[in-house]
Order: sequence, then structure tokens, then C-alpha cells
Amino acid sequence: GNHEDSAPCMARPRDFPIRRGCPFAPPEDYARLRTEEPVARVTLPTGREAWVVTRYEDVRELLADPRISADIRRANFPALGEGEQEIGARLRPFIRTDAPEHTRYRRMLLPEFTVRKTRAMRPAVQAIVDDLIDAMLASGGPVDFVPAYANAVSTSVICELLGIPKENLEFFRDVTRISGSRSSTAEQVAEALGGLFTLISDLVAQRQEQPRDDLLSKLVVDHLQTGDITLNELLSTVGITINAGRETSTNMLALSALLLIRRPELAQELRADPSLMPAAVDELLRVLSIADSIPLRVAARDIEISGHVIPADDGVIGLLAGANHDPEQFPDPGRVDFHRPDNHHVAFGYGMHQCIGQHLARLEMEVALGTLIRRIPTLRLAVPYEEVEFKHESATFGIERMPVTW
Ligand code: HEM
Repeated sequence: GNHEDSAPCMARPRDFPIRRGCPFAPPEDYARLRTEEPVARVTLPTGREAWVVTRYEDVRELLADPRISADIRRANFPALGEGEQEIGARLRPFIRTDAPEHTRYRRMLLPEFTVRKTRAMRPAVQAIVDDLIDAMLASGGPVDFVPAYANAVSTSVICELLGIPKENLEFFRDVTRISGSRSSTAEQVAEALGGLFTLISDLVAQRQEQPRDDLLSKLVVDHLQTGDITLNELLSTVGITINAGRETSTNMLALSALLLIRRPELAQELRADPSLMPAAVDELLRVLSIADSIPLRVAARDIEISGHVIPADDGVIGLLAGANHDPEQFPDPGRVDFHRPDNHHVAFGYGMHQCIGQHLARLEMEVALGTLIRRIPTLRLAVPYEEVEFKHESATFGIERMPVTW
């Protein structure tokens, strides 16, 4: 019986995130938001309010606007979980910072994620993928595809890149599950990340003694030992890279595999013409848009988008799945079309914070999916489709559990 209940015009704006109906498409309501409410007010799980933007042009304009901030310390930063907000403000991962601070970290990492450096990783990624498929086939099935393949591929690739021993696979799984869940408390997130930082700092100490040919050694020799960054800064940078790269690729791989299981003619098209793989990966990234609400921002000044003013200090989220399914930009957006021209999707974000690992993610997807459909053409669900468990509560959309056989 409080004031808000009795005054409809004072009602809380609708809740966000909005649940997906079909796992292979954005929430149905995004289409209505795009046409009727392109800049919409929402209530977040933390109780804070924010704006969401859903049109392709608007999302790009927003994310490229120098007047927006990604600084998680701002009061109205629209984190989707209280744990994330609190720990983010404490640890300040560079994904949630602004220039010039952000620029410093980004410059440090970019040379390691170029097209050329990534291309050189192809044989290592292929070897990881082949080993995992050998193990899956040897097990005889059924297996849960998420830990056995999707997560194993993405974690092994990150470990390979950074030079982290593979014994830590299981450990990473827990860290990401806890730190990526909206329902985790600040204490739970802090504990999970604390474990991760201890592990990385042990490895850093080893590299200081004896550098090797890996990314961690490079950061230690070129940036830590020169005094460019402190140990804590190095830990948080490596930590965010591991977290950003694992959960996203895991979800993308699992959801893409499920889509190809449900649409065997698409898998057949790729087997018949493997040169379609790169275009197919980008089309899957667009259609599935798993990192939909990752770009969280605050308006540092008043910003006008589609004739609507977002006042300074308000939180705002550029919804990537909204943008990637905007029919003005992508005709018949729900259609999976490996021949789509000009597929300039924003699945990796846009502007200053655009994904640093995108070339690596594409390579992983291309090798892991391409090899999977070639080597296990009879891959199918080992349970009814209704029993596949999806991740509705995590920062990126994905699959929790998916028993498969062949
Ligand atoms: C940033 C998506 C894989 C590392 C981002 C952002 C998105 C994204 C949307 C922008 C966030 C924002 O604007 O606030 C994805 C997707 C992936 C993927 C969909 C896989 C399919 C990876 C991988 C790595 C990685 C494999 C590293 C190994 C990062 C980092 C940032 C980032 C470090 C922060 C960049 C910055 O703030 O300047 N990613 N990502 N990502 N991603 Fe990815």
C-alpha cells in the first residue's frame, strides 16, 4: 500500500534483463522496443534504473559517443548484479574504465591479439580441438557437451595463449560460474577472484625467474619489470582477459552447436563448402548475440539518441542483440544466412571497448565448429530438446548442460 502502488504513472519501469523465449533469438520484446520505445527506461536486478537502446544505428552511435563512460565507480553504473558492481568498483577491470587509463591497458594488450598473432595460433587451436574430439569419441558417449567440448576448448585456448598449465581447467570453471552469475554476492565474487589472482601471481613469480614464450612472460618482462604497471594491475588485466574470453566463447560454441544440431541442413551446407566457415561464424555471432547486455555505460553528459535525451549520470545499456536483429540493417534478421552481404554486426561491441579477443574468438569458433561437424557428423542430443538447460541468469546467454551422443 505505498505511494508507488497507488500511482500508476509512478510505477517502476519494466524489469531488465528480459528473458529469451527462443534461445536462438533475442527476447521477443526487443522488436517492440525498437519501434515503439527505442530508448526505454528499465529497472535492473540491483533495483537501480537505467536506459536500454535497441536500434542498430542508435547502439553504434551510443557506443562511439565520447560522452559516455564505462567507469564502474559511477553511482548509476548499470551492473546487472550487486556482486559485479561492488567488486568491479573495487578491482576496476580495464573493461570498466575510461581513457586515458583504459587506453594504457588496451595498448599493452592489443599487440598480442593482432590478426597475425592470432593466425599463428591456428595449429595449436587445431591440436586442442582434435585432442578433445578424440577424447569425446573414445568415451563412447553420451557426454555433456558444455564441459567436454565448449568449455574445454575455450579454456584450453586461453591457457595456451597466456601460458597457464592446463591442470587449472576445473578451477577456472568455478571462478567464471561464480563471478559471471547475477545472483552471486560481493563476498562470493571476491573469494572466487581472489583464488584466481593467487594462481596468476604464482605464475607471474615463476615468469619473473624464468620467462617463457607466452603472453604472461611478455607482460611480466615488458610491462611489470619496467614499472609500467603494478602487480595488482597486471593481475586484474590477466584476470579480466581470462574471464572475458572463456565464458563468451564457451557459450557461443555450445549454442552454435545446438543450432546446427537443430538445423542439420545448415551443418550440411558447411560440410559441403568449408570455405563458408568464416562467414558462418560471423552470422552465428550476429544471430545468437550472446553478449547482448555486456556494454554497460553511464552518460557523462546529456546525450540525445533518436530524439530522446539521456540525462547526465544515468546508466545506459546498448543492447547488442537488439542492434543485430534490427531489420533496417539486417533484412529478415531471424534468418540464418551464411551468404548475408555486409554483415557488419556488433556482436563484439563497438567503439573504444570493442572486443580485443575477437580474432581469437573467430578462429576458435571456425576451428572448433568446423572440426566438430566434420569429425562427428552424427552429433545429436542425448536428451529431449526440452531438457537442455540454458543460462538465463548469467552475463552472457548460453547453455548450462547439454548431453550429446553420436
Ligand atoms: C570486450 C564479446 C571473446 C577479451 C568485449 C565486448 C564484447 C565482447 C561485446 C565489449 C564490452 C563493452 O563494450 O563494454 C565477446 C564475444 C566473444 C568474446 C561475443 C566470443 C564469442 C573474447 C576472447 C577474449 C576477449 C576470446 C580474450 C582472450 C575481451 C576483453 C575485452 C572484451 C579483454 C575488453 C576490451 C576493452 O574494454 O577495451 N568482448 N568477446 N573476448 N573482450 Fe570479448
